[in-house]
Amino acid sequence: MQSLMLRDDQLRSPEEQPRPDRPRSDCPVLLSQRLVLRAPHIEDIDALAHLANNAAIATMVARMPHPYTAKDAADFVRRTNIGEIGKCVYAITKADNGEFLGCCAMEPNPVDDTILELGYWLGEPYWNRGYATEAAHALIDMAFRTREWVSRIDARCRVTNIASRRVIQKSGFQFQGTGMVGNLAMGGTVPVEWYRLDRKTWLSLKSWGEMR
Ligand SMILES: CC(C)(COP(=O)(O)OP(=O)(O)OC[C@H]1O[C@@H](n2cnc3c(N)ncnc32)[C@H](O)[C@@H]1OP(=O)(O)O)[C@@H](O)C(=O)NCCC(=O)NCCS
Repeated sequence: MQSLMLRDDQLRSPEEQPRPDRPRSDCPVLLSQRLVLRAPHIEDIDALAHLANNAAIATMVARMPHPYTAKDAADFVRRTNIGEIGKCVYAITKADNGEFLGCCAMEPNPVDDTILELGYWLGEPYWNRGYATEAAHALIDMAFRTREWVSRIDARCRVTNIASRRVIQKSGFQFQGTGMVGNLAMGGTVPVEWYRLDRKTWLSLKSWGEMR
């Protein structure tokens, strides 16, 4: 996915990216308490261009250009809808009024498709209201419930990204290590932390939740 976190293989040009082998219909619309996660639409382009044109976002995700133009937004929507950027890229929208808030995605690891990689960003006006955590939980539940071949989900964040680390921790991920990955807006590589949530841990979290 163009705009999300964070692997070197995701820095390949569109021509070098593997072609999707599963249709978009594998990515159902997801509903949570306050959010609807759905495919990005042409109608999202203005809000996407406005919200994504923010260095505080671009420097935290792998492949978001900065500055970010309406052309970048139109290109992103077109390419996500034909599966050229990612197989399961979602617009995060408000359930009550349809407002576009940001994007999230769950993409297979290119060398092991039993592992998915989680990524997300929200427009700055919507930070610190629990939306990213709510979207992450909806995506994680969908992945483990509907894809029996998925064994683990990975998430990476820059070591400086306190808010994303918190989202990852609130979603039950466990620290695996550190590394360096490419960042388009920074024009180089940046240090990141790597976290993982395996299916057994997710199942435990779900059953603990039911015991409350
Ligand atoms: C990371 C990001 C998606 C978080 O979205 P969000 O909707 O604000 O996240 P949530 O509200 O679900 O959770 C954020 C948590 O971080 C905490 N937090 C945020 N800034 C913080 C700070 N400076 N110090 C301590 N905690 C902080 C919040 O208090 C909250 O934790 P809490 O619920 O325990 O109080 C959003 O900040 C963003 O889009 N940033 C730019 C792009 C990005 O970093 N994407 C992720 C790439 S890995």
